Amino acid sequence: MNTIECINTRRSIRKFTEEPVSHDTVQKIVEAASMAPSWKNTQITRYTVIESKELKEKIAAEATNPFNAGHINSAAAVVAVSVVKNRCGYERDGSFSTVKEDSWQMFDAGVASQTFCLAAHEYGVGSVIMGIFDYDKVAEMIELPETQEMVALVAIGYGAEKPEAPKRKTVEDLLTYK
Ligand SMILES: Cc1cc2nc3c(=O)[nH]c(=O)nc-3n(C[C@H](O)[C@H](O)[C@H](O)COP(=O)(O)O)c2cc1C
Repeated sequence: MNTIECINTRRSIRKFTEEPVSHDTVQKIVEAASMAPSWKNTQITRYTVIESKELKEKIAAEATNPFNAGHINSAAAVVAVSVVKNRCGYERDGSFSTVKEDSWQMFDAGVASQTFCLAAHEYGVGSVIMGIFDYDKVAEMIELPETQEMVALVAIGYGAEKPEAPKRKTVEDLLTYK
């Protein structure tokens, strides 16, 4: 698959088969995601792969809405994407580099997450990024270190659906030249 084909054919997958995703495949996906650009190459994004059925069910039941609970329970695994705090957006002396302060850490997590999802797609693994859940509860459930902040959950697995791409805005809507 070439890059444009990968970008164009990746879809958010919300229904999965029962086939597990091997550690070898997860390893390759994270290896590819590690090549994502990051603020001053700080590489703050981390991935916690939740394979335990009990833990997935607990997150689904106690830390998100019924819609996302369905994806989580169907997924082979749920990847908790987190960032190491106090690095991205900062100067060495601890001051902020820009007026966007530490929001660059969310930017970096987004860049890394999309790279993760595209790499997963290349390896035949479906994914859906989820932003709607209780960050503190999930952080506690997975015993996330205090030095990190929860950003997103990504359900992964082999797709049991082939959704159409939701309608996109036109290039004219998106693009401006000056
Ligand atoms: C930051 C972010 C948060 C999202 N949160 C959710 C979510 O909580 N639940 C869900 O089902 N999809 C979620 N999505 C997936 C979007 O709904 C999806 O990307 C969008 O509808 C376009 O569809 P596509 O990914 O198939 O192109 C999220 C996507 C992003 C980037």
